[in-house]
Amino acid sequence: MLAGKHIVLGVTGGIAAYKSAELVRLLVKEGAHVRVIMTQHAQEFITPLTLQTLSGNPVATETFSLTQESEIGHIRLADTADAILIAPATANIIAKLAHGLADDLLSTVLLATTAPVLIAPAMNVHMYAHPMVQENMRKLASVGYGFVEPSEGFLACGYEGKGRLADPEAIVEELRATLTKKDMRHERIIVTAGPNAEPIDPVRFITNRSTGKMGFAMAKVAWRRGAEVTLVSGPTSLDPPRGVRFHSVRTALEMQKAILEAYPTATMIVSAAAVADYRPAHVAPQKIKKMGGNFSVELTRNPDILGELASQKGNRLHVGFATETEHVLENAVRKLRNKNLDMIVANDVTQEGAGFAHDTNIVTIIDRTERMETLPLMSKDEVAHAVYDRLLAMKAGNGE
Ligand code: C5P
Repeated sequence: MLAGKHIVLGVTGGIAAYKSAELVRLLVKEGAHVRVIMTQHAQEFITPLTLQTLSGNPVATETFSLTQESEIGHIRLADTADAILIAPATANIIAKLAHGLADDLLSTVLLATTAPVLIAPAMNVHMYAHPMVQENMRKLASVGYGFVEPSEGFLACGYEGKGRLADPEAIVEELRATLTKKDMRHERIIVTAGPNAEPIDPVRFITNRSTGKMGFAMAKVAWRRGAEVTLVSGPTSLDPPRGVRFHSVRTALEMQKAILEAYPTATMIVSAAAVADYRPAHVAPQKIKKMGGNFSVELTRNPDILGELASQKGNRLHVGFATETEHVLENAVRKLRNKNLDMIVANDVTQEGAGFAHDTNIVTIIDRTERMETLPLMSKDEVAHAVYDRLLAMKAGNGE
């Protein structure tokens, strides 16, 4: 997603400046072209040589240096940037930008650029809470500047509270979202993900091999494209994606309850969860002891969550996933019809690179007219984009 993008990273003079090294590393790892601008005070905390070595590009520090200006050129930096990230951003750079000041290289580039700017503040807890700092940030936000809120925690100044630079991974994720077209801004979407764990007794449960990766990609990509996302997930080892409302559940009944709460205001539901079709009919209150002979567990049907929602669908879009091991397309079309879906994403988990635990998938998208489109092997993020592209086209076709 960031590969080939030109990112200007502005580093200002706070103790968190040392964390910019990690940011540069993460951006370069993703294939971004990183150009660093350091303010004079930033250079008191970390040397330009460090960021120059990590970015593989000369670091710009001065507006009036004859060599830097001919080699880098501040207008060129402003013009060629796909996005500018200021991390850490001090109260000072925020104030300068909010007042249109241009008294050093970074503030000048910030006024000269038309690229989106993302600001990751980091400062003392009282400074961050100061009404003037807050007002400057509000002013900037109101004209389109993006912010990555600082986190709470122990600050280098000895205080505890809000002011720590956000986690570098979170900043990079926010940057990806900044660079993504916000064509789902009007969508409120429920995404389900992962397996269910249906208890047999307090220590045992029935589950399946879903890892949640496809559903998490669906949630993450929708958020990056501007949607309001509720992610209802069964147990997985994944971190909740940034920006989504996250509900962690275990059983199909818990999943259904969380979905029903969000459903009235939703515009779309994407059901990527491998919902358990059955659950133990009785859950033993204590651990079941082993005995001689065989042992069987009686199972009862779980509700078909997506199927049951069909009757109250209105003009919401319903998307299902069909994970199969045989007769993939026939089974998927049957589900599309039975659950009155607008789209079903079918995949054959027996294919190399598809299905559970992989970061890639090979899917066939079937729309409500039963038109089929088989996509090549791609990342689960790319599959998510492809699904949303087609859903938005479907909406546009409906005149919605
Ligand atoms: O019912 P089946 O598993 O064949 O269909 C798969 C689709 O239906 C998936 O989108 C899955 O999330 C959803 N589903 C459901 N409730 C179930 C089983 C599956 O919503 N009990």
